[in-house]
Amino acid sequence: MGNHIIVETATNGCRIDKNVYGHFAEHLGQCIYDGVWVGEDSPVSNIRGIRTDIVEALKGINAPIIRWPGGCFADEYHWKDGVGPRSSRAPIVNSHWGGIIESNDFGTHEFFDLCDLVGAEPYICGNVGSGTVHEMQQWIEYMNWSDSTEMSEWRRRNGREEPFGIKYFGIGNENWGCGGMMSAEAYAELYKKYQTYVRTYGDYSIYKIACGPKNDDYHWTDVLMREAGNLMDGLALHYYSRMFSSGSNTTERRGSATEFEEDEWALILRKAHDTEELVRRHSAIMDRYDPDRNVSLVIDEWGTWFEVEPETNPGFLFQQNTVRDAIVASISLNIFNQYAERVRMANIAQTVNVLQAMVLTDGPRLVKTPTYHVFEMYKKHQGARKLLTTVDSEVYRYEPYEMDKVTASASQSDDGSILVTLNNVDPHTAASVALTIRGHEPRNISARVLTSGRMQDHNTFAEPEKVTPDAFTAINVKDSVLHFDAPPQSVVAITLL
Ligand code: AHR
Repeated sequence: MGNHIIVETATNGCRIDKNVYGHFAEHLGQCIYDGVWVGEDSPVSNIRGIRTDIVEALKGINAPIIRWPGGCFADEYHWKDGVGPRSSRAPIVNSHWGGIIESNDFGTHEFFDLCDLVGAEPYICGNVGSGTVHEMQQWIEYMNWSDSTEMSEWRRRNGREEPFGIKYFGIGNENWGCGGMMSAEAYAELYKKYQTYVRTYGDYSIYKIACGPKNDDYHWTDVLMREAGNLMDGLALHYYSRMFSSGSNTTERRGSATEFEEDEWALILRKAHDTEELVRRHSAIMDRYDPDRNVSLVIDEWGTWFEVEPETNPGFLFQQNTVRDAIVASISLNIFNQYAERVRMANIAQTVNVLQAMVLTDGPRLVKTPTYHVFEMYKKHQGARKLLTTVDSEVYRYEPYEMDKVTASASQSDDGSILVTLNNVDPHTAASVALTIRGHEPRNISARVLTSGRMQDHNTFAEPEKVTPDAFTAINVKDSVLHFDAPPQSVVAITLL
């Protein structure tokens, strides 16, 4: 029967927000320290302490936005600890992640420097769980006020004359869990209070992002939209594709990132597919309160979550990244693209050395993961016009799991080129695809495929190019329809001019 993808070129004008391809860098394990930040005196090549190769890698995927400093760390981070001369910044304990010493060497100024170097928007998550309204208000004033006040003069003494102009600001993180264990009702009240003092200074108005639901907590979305929907620009959903959903219960098995068989392949890919139901149902609740879709559904933590690699610190969440992770990324990004009218930001967890990372580092060495390559293959979707895409797919089954064998999304850039991205989740058989692009005569077709012989394949420092995209030329055009076989366990990106 095959798989039929139909792409409509008549659009409703909706663009895929570039921030859907966003990132998240937390003070967790070796994401910041020994990841992004090595310090100015490091033998590892760096720019003012920030690793050069990471900057280059993030530029290679046009990383549009980076969320910082957490995660759970955000609700115990006190920003004043991280500004001023580094030699006089007091260390603290990172009690949530491994109980290690946090030097505070990487703070507000270093974060903005990272974003400047990468060309990414900064997105800061503020502290509601253990911080005060006053502290949050002062952070915004420190970053955004231009005339002379105690905060702006302090910023100047710390080396930054002009305001930083922070735009994207989160008011707490997971306040239903590590951010204070609150009920939706209690958080909604606190949200209203905190956000009042997240002021517009000068021209710098803030895009306020409220803590949203965990997974399928539709009650949370309902309460937040009812009580405070008119006071926010975004509501942040967190969803990880993992074997269990409780998040804090570390006694349950998470499964290995690299040593798994088809049962865990199918389970994790099923979890990735479940993102669609979550986005659809949370969006439907938001539509009731916000029919004009002024509030974005911001999925500011998503990705896979496995057991840490053997002999690494369990609090550091360091995991490898295989063909399976690449397909999770592809399924998830296709869903975000398809819901572009409501989903206007997403931040994969996390950028370096943590969870479903873009890159892994070891001393001076850096390796790009299969997930990185998916972000690279998808990057022309950023800011492009969404094209309505329907997929009539075969079913991939591995009892008790079943799912569409093929998912896809498509967009058209301002230069007129069309990008269609798709995947085949079946590890055994190719997916025979017929792709119709209505209203467009296919020409100048170029395509790439990401796959590998084994579903467990991944890139290592010894073999950094094991899973990388290759040219994909086996496409036949007949009566304006593209016909091809997407290889088993693959991600395919097709560009047409
Ligand atoms: O990304 C790791 C952690 O997952 C974050 O700190 C937290 O927000 C979530 O539970």
